[in-house]
Amino acid sequence: MGSKLFVNAKQIVTNSSGLPYELDVLEDSALLIKDGLISWIGNQSDAPSADEVVDCAGKVIIPGFVDSHTHLIFGGDRSDEFAARMAGQSYSAGGINFTVEKTRSASDEELRTNAASLIAEMYSTGTTSFEIKSGYGLTLQDEIRSLRIAKEFTDYVTLMAAHVVPKEFENNRTEYVKLIIDQILPAAKGIAKFVDSFCETGAFTLEESSEILKAAKSLGFVCKIHANQLSRSESINLASELNAVSVDHVTYFNESDIKELKDSGIVATLLPATEFSTNSPYPDARKLIDGGVTLAIATNCNPGSSFTTSMPFCIAVAVREMNFSIEQALWAATKGGAMALGDETKGKLVVGGQADFAILAAPSYVHLAYRPGVNLVEATYKNGEVVFAKGGK
Ligand code: NIG
Repeated sequence: MGSKLFVNAKQIVTNSSGLPYELDVLEDSALLIKDGLISWIGNQSDAPSADEVVDCAGKVIIPGFVDSHTHLIFGGDRSDEFAARMAGQSYSAGGINFTVEKTRSASDEELRTNAASLIAEMYSTGTTSFEIKSGYGLTLQDEIRSLRIAKEFTDYVTLMAAHVVPKEFENNRTEYVKLIIDQILPAAKGIAKFVDSFCETGAFTLEESSEILKAAKSLGFVCKIHANQLSRSESINLASELNAVSVDHVTYFNESDIKELKDSGIVATLLPATEFSTNSPYPDARKLIDGGVTLAIATNCNPGSSFTTSMPFCIAVAVREMNFSIEQALWAATKGGAMALGDETKGKLVVGGQADFAILAAPSYVHLAYRPGVNLVEATYKNGEVVFAKGGK
């Protein structure tokens, strides 16, 4: 592959300093890529020559979004449940079993096609890296097939057999926990990197989550926890005990949770579209940031509580409703997401790093929040290849 030089960028957001929430923006700059990597970045006037030149014409280059929390392997639709919620019903974990039924009866090809179309949406809104969880199969066979399909699209695969207790184990939940520990976890080795548990009323208790995640850790998986989504529990302490890489949702928290997150360095992944779609109170990100917590923003794309693939939408909601500054939100959606996946090679634009970025048809990254609902992404590059271009590749 020849070299490609992107010139006349009004801003290039690099996230290069390594400091939390620092965007490190270069003005009037250029970026050179070769063989999928960034080989030079700097002042327009010092730009080297290249085989091909792309004129950014005063637009903005940002690191590709890192969506660290999605549930893309599912069948069926829950728009009726969403409509009922908008008419006043509240969200509960119970709807997950509806999707489990639809997922089990879907063919591999249906699940693959659905995930692929959601991933195409992600590319079109600037995402270049993403995590995918299982969790709508809930049998040994269906969880492993979900993981295998997820792995076709990403290396960041999470086993979430501990999503809810499936209907057939309703009266024997201990047996389901045992199935996860004795059979599903060992079978997920080599496919999933992370194991997650929905630690919540209506899903898994703190004790069950602890048992499952401890077994996962002893097998070499990295732990994540769906923590404090519908109510506060001691799940952040559990995450700390397990050296988890992230706690996700964190809609509810107290001062001791903030301290635990700061001291442990665990990333708290906030999911603005979830509060939006479930009519729930938004967490105050400013409190967490001021308390020294590292935050990520992710879509939580799933058919129940958050059916969007758009990181720009999540940024706009985070800024408007959760007290993020625009800079903090953009950092959390890029570098923060990379940290929530334990992969700090992503979410930044540095020489020698992967050429994963998006070009925004806007004069400033501020437009990500200033122009909600408008897709500003003109092109998305992953490993130096175009994965989305407005008007076709
Ligand atoms: O992250 N909280 C648990 N899992 C998903 C919701 C899944 C669903 O409702 O289908 C979430 O919000």
